[in-house]
Amino acid sequence: MPTASPAATPAALAPLVARRSERLSGRVRVPGDKSISHRSLLIGLLTVGATEIEGLLEGEDVLATARACAALGAAVERLGPGRWRVRGVGVGSLLEPDQVLDFGNSGTGVRLAMGVVAGHPVEAVFDGDQSLRRRPMRRVLEPLARMGAAIIEAAPDGRLPVRLKGAEDAIPIVFESPLPSAQVKSAVLFCGLAAPGETTVIEVEATRDHTERMLAYFGAELAITPHGEHGKRITLKGRPELRPRPIAVPADPSSAAFPLVAALIVPGSDLILESVLANPLRTGLLHTLKQMGAGIEEIDRREQGGEPVVDLHVRASKLRGVEVPAARAPSMIDEYPVLAIAAAFAEGETMMRGLSELRVKESDRLAAIAAGLAANGVEHEVSGDDLVVRGGAGRVQGGGTVMTHMDHRIAMAFLVMGLASDQPVAVDDASLIATSFPGFTELMRGLGADIG
Ligand code: S3P
Repeated sequence: MPTASPAATPAALAPLVARRSERLSGRVRVPGDKSISHRSLLIGLLTVGATEIEGLLEGEDVLATARACAALGAAVERLGPGRWRVRGVGVGSLLEPDQVLDFGNSGTGVRLAMGVVAGHPVEAVFDGDQSLRRRPMRRVLEPLARMGAAIIEAAPDGRLPVRLKGAEDAIPIVFESPLPSAQVKSAVLFCGLAAPGETTVIEVEATRDHTERMLAYFGAELAITPHGEHGKRITLKGRPELRPRPIAVPADPSSAAFPLVAALIVPGSDLILESVLANPLRTGLLHTLKQMGAGIEEIDRREQGGEPVVDLHVRASKLRGVEVPAARAPSMIDEYPVLAIAAAFAEGETMMRGLSELRVKESDRLAAIAAGLAANGVEHEVSGDDLVVRGGAGRVQGGGTVMTHMDHRIAMAFLVMGLASDQPVAVDDASLIATSFPGFTELMRGLGADIG
């Protein structure tokens, strides 16, 4: 068995500056959805035969999952840009990896893969970078232990690196998730694939449902019913024979959010974002921005591989502050950094409630957003788990340098701010942007953004 090595020292910092820009315009497609990309590789691993994927996000996070799938027995091939083929081993037939499964910066990759391994009698060591080593893993390890997995070693407080031995015979459970987390739900469902009988996850707040959709698309039997006001009860029949199906990954709405908000705040902008995933459990930001007065038109709504997609026509708009209820958080959990930027340019206050989960993302995002706003002269307040931003009605001072704390979305959000603020905005390190949005700087420059 491999042993975990100390997390690699971070590469040299790559600072970047964004300056006030002329109108942004053009027609672009941002890279593939990160959540769907991870799942297509892992479900490909659990399918016998060849799964062909188009539009896979070739960001560092997803490439780490691709390497892990190969280490667990799949033949993973890159056929061309975004085109990948996974020849899987099927549920029940994973190989024991002979190397540490290093997920770099990716919480989704590591937590979903833990679920997959937990259902198989193999031992694996999971690790990641310094950001991932700080993030909570108990949320997945506890239900997976109930399903029969053994946590052989872990860093204090159940953090990475973790050595996990999967169950000989996974136990189907009924799991009431204490957190609104699609990663936790998906880890339990992935483990449940290997269990005889039915595994049930009850979520009080519905979270992104890509795992359920893709498993059903590959032939698994799932029953999904409403639970309470905002929740769902998901029951999966174990040991299905998954059949390979082609996957076309739509553009990631969490990445599209950056050029979208940039176009709203840079005067005169007019932009089309193509084939953006429009799954209703991912559209909280669109809903909020429209309430704020954003000119966003949805064109040609259509289905792509079991998911709705749409083209978005975005025009620069005067925004006004709104209240974003806590219940909306799961449908826009990754979008608060860039919403805070839109709020800084809006007129009046934007109140964002119920942000506790932001504290355990790639960084403590609530603290990182607040520090970035402070560095750029934006009035704001954090009280408990709520953030209020007092907008400058089109004017933001800027001029600050923002600490990104190994967080790609903090870097991109504050670069977007700098495109419309009076003074340039710098980020201390843009290197992590490649985890989710390779080509971000080039794409933004192509639209007219002054980033360099
Ligand atoms: C994801 C779920 C969310 C999100 C992450 C991707 C997923 O995390 O923040 O970027 O693909 O399941 P949580 O499940 O921790 O909320």
